[in-house]
Amino acid sequence: MPIIGNAEAIAHWETLPQTFIDSFGDEGDLAHQYLLNPTLFALLGDVQGKTILDAGCGQGYLARLLSKRGAKVTGLEPATPLIEYAIKREEVEQSGVRYIQADLSAFTDTVQLFDIIIANMVLMDIPDDEAALDACFAHLRPGGQFICSLIHPCFEESDSVYQDQGYIAVHEYFREDAIPQRWGYRFHRPLSHYFTALIRRGGVIRSVVEPQLDVAQAQGALAENRNLYVPAFIVIQAVKS
Ligand SMILES: C[S@@+](CC[C@H](N)C(=O)[O-])C[C@H]1O[C@@H](n2cnc3c(N)ncnc32)[C@H](O)[C@@H]1O
Repeated sequence: MPIIGNAEAIAHWETLPQTFIDSFGDEGDLAHQYLLNPTLFALLGDVQGKTILDAGCGQGYLARLLSKRGAKVTGLEPATPLIEYAIKREEVEQSGVRYIQADLSAFTDTVQLFDIIIANMVLMDIPDDEAALDACFAHLRPGGQFICSLIHPCFEESDSVYQDQGYIAVHEYFREDAIPQRWGYRFHRPLSHYFTALIRRGGVIRSVVEPQLDVAQAQGALAENRNLYVPAFIVIQAVKS
């Protein structure tokens, strides 16, 4: 695996075009809208009054949605253009989200332990995900929930490759590797890595969801989408013992 540290990985996220950040949408892209958000909200249930850390919040769409549902939300994001977008939205909308610019693996918060920590599509983008998980579990109250969504490490080929070939190929599943993306890298690790990491930190696995696209939803841009047949994502919910 090329040796890429967290700072370099974050620097790649800082090269995201501003147009991409601006157009990401108030509920995220189609994958977020149809697959990730419904799964996350079903797992979360009523968040009224709950303290939530949106760890690796990007442009802050989920932090804002959770805040609108009555949660007390902190959004953590290291990449400057993304956190600046989120802060500017907060200045205008005053939704009550507190934003912190930080690398999750070095995060310390003396203010509170959280009821819920969500890492939505984040852990596979962090080289030192073990340190990031240490920080998450250190900031979670006993009985609190940790939820992460991931690119499914068993079926990582992109939607466009699936469209072309009609299947997902798996070549070197066991090899941990940095896989170049359009912007930056994704860090492939076997699925057992994530379960083991959560269990070692006292996480009791409560739910595992492989979001599947509903046939009725698969219209227009989503017609024949691979998520009808093979999941692109996996969402894991653990409770801190
Ligand atoms: C795929 S994006 C997901 C963003 C957002 N959670 C969402 O679902 O729209 C991955 C995010 O992880 C962030 N990230 C990368 N390295 C990180 C680190 N060391 N600590 C916290 N966040 C990090 C990136 O800056 C980026 O915002």
